[in-house]
Amino acid sequence: MLNRHYSKLDQLIDIFDNGLRTVFGAAPQGERANPADTHPEAELGAEDKVLAGRLMRINHAGEVAAQGLYQGQALTAKLPDVREKMQQAADEENDHLNWCASRISELGTRTSLLDPFWYAGSVSIGALAGAIGDKWSLGFVAETEHQVVRHLDSHLAQITPADARTRAILEQMKIDEGQHATTALEAGGAALPAPIKALMQLTSKVMTRTAYWI
Ligand SMILES: [Fe+2]
Ligand SMILES: [Fe+2]
Repeated sequence: MLNRHYSKLDQLIDIFDNGLRTVFGAAPQGERANPADTHPEAELGAEDKVLAGRLMRINHAGEVAAQGLYQGQALTAKLPDVREKMQQAADEENDHLNWCASRISELGTRTSLLDPFWYAGSVSIGALAGAIGDKWSLGFVAETEHQVVRHLDSHLAQITPADARTRAILEQMKIDEGQHATTALEAGGAALPAPIKALMQLTSKVMTRTAYWI
């Protein structure tokens, strides 16, 4: 089975399967421990707890979208090594998905009801980026990750210093997302035109605003 050729249909089934697990089930357990594990739970004020829960819901929705983007890109990426890199990054995002989900339940709230929508939309956007060409699709990853790093910074600025468990997760995610951006650029990612960056920022604003509440 070493040289098994995966048809487009196999890949579509894989995407559908991954989508179901991402949205409704648990993502595959990664190798890394949850960074929150080394921190005790703090006594949080009600407001701090609600805010942290909402911000983690946004981050979780972002990770659901990341799964979709990477899966969509893997479907249309032309170079096999690009496809492999995308798949590897998607696997690493599984850790983030799991960490966010477990922190969300510790904070006593839930994931976004619109997760299936974020996933499906992102598969389409990812497939489109992959179809346009590998250097653009890698550039798209780099820009997405840079925007995520800025989001994480703004969340860290809002979350109380007492909430060490949430902060430990966000700090590790920030390191990983920065690394994903660097990897994508080193693999040949191109700098995106300013209007595309602006459109991406607008899209992410819609998602973050919505996931804060729903
Ligand atoms: Fe991530
Ligand atoms: Fe990432």
